[in-house]
Amino acid sequence: MSRLIHHSKPYLSRFLSLASSRNGRFLSTGADTSHNNSTESDRVEEAETVNIPPPPTEKLLVLGGNGFVGSHVCKEALTRGLTVASLSRSGRSSIQDSWANNVIWHQGNLFSTDSWKDALKGVTSIISCVGGFGSNSFMYKVNGTANINAIRAASEEGVKRFVYVSAADYGVVNYVLRGYYEGKRASETELLTRYPYGGVILRPGFIYGTRRVGSMNLPLGVIGSPLEMVLKNAKGLKKVPLIGPLFTPPVNVTAVAKVAVRAATNPVFPPGVVDVYGILRYSQQKSA
Ligand SMILES: NC(=O)c1ccc[n+]([C@@H]2O[C@H](COP(=O)([O-])OP(=O)(O)OC[C@H]3O[C@@H](n4cnc5c(N)ncnc54)[C@H](OP(=O)(O)O)[C@@H]3O)[C@@H](O)[C@H]2O)c1
Repeated sequence: MSRLIHHSKPYLSRFLSLASSRNGRFLSTGADTSHNNSTESDRVEEAETVNIPPPPTEKLLVLGGNGFVGSHVCKEALTRGLTVASLSRSGRSSIQDSWANNVIWHQGNLFSTDSWKDALKGVTSIISCVGGFGSNSFMYKVNGTANINAIRAASEEGVKRFVYVSAADYGVVNYVLRGYYEGKRASETELLTRYPYGGVILRPGFIYGTRRVGSMNLPLGVIGSPLEMVLKNAKGLKKVPLIGPLFTPPVNVTAVAKVAVRAATNPVFPPGVVDVYGILRYSQQKSA
């Protein structure tokens, strides 16, 4: 756009003249030297067209953004200025906080890719917080198959980065919950295959924070926080055969959210597995 600007106010002309002398690209003065010098800067005839590229747009899709971890991820991403969308079977979160109004809530089921393909439009990165417990076959499906579907659809759509919230090994517990762990590991393998450079796997142990159950807030930090203090300094206990993994320190949900958002948006965040100690370390860094 270019337009003519005529005026005679001296203060405005001085401002424009100053601006033009500082950066000739933005304004040009049409000084008419046949008139006296005092009118030289009184006329600004043309403002040049300046093409300023729009700021880079980053759009994050949080799979399971209405869940415990997912809602903290959405909130963290919004505070970092990202465009944030969520996808889950029930759609909009029941959370009434004002930040929830800034999330684009999609409804869809990861088992049927057609039901959520539209949610992938314009997405630059994904964080999957989809998982669950139940029978072994159910756990394999929701922790494995559902996420594998998501990883495949995302890579086909050209989404650049994908972060999967997985889980730490718990030794003997792994056998009892084998559908859960086999599903997690199958998703991890798919992620590392499809996203060798932009795939990050977070493996927290117990995640604490305030969890909403219906209309109630459950303060899991009451147990999680002191346990974290004790166990994060007792790394040696983890090496005890069979029961060692039970000493994995719990981690705060806000720490998981911070690291997940950073891993999803920072192109130099190292791909691969981040264990609970890595999550604690990254979350304490200033840029996390
Ligand atoms: N909480 C912990 O202590 C902990 C510890 C280690 C690892 N993790 C892992 O962290 C992740 C998040 O855990 P969380 O505690 O936040 O779980 P959560 O509160 O139960 O959230 C699970 C989310 O997944 C969505 N979901 C489930 N099935 C889906 C499907 N077929 N299609 C689309 N969305 C689906 C749910 O929403 P809808 O029901 O509306 O679909 C919900 O938003 C899980 O993978 C979990 O295994 C959790």
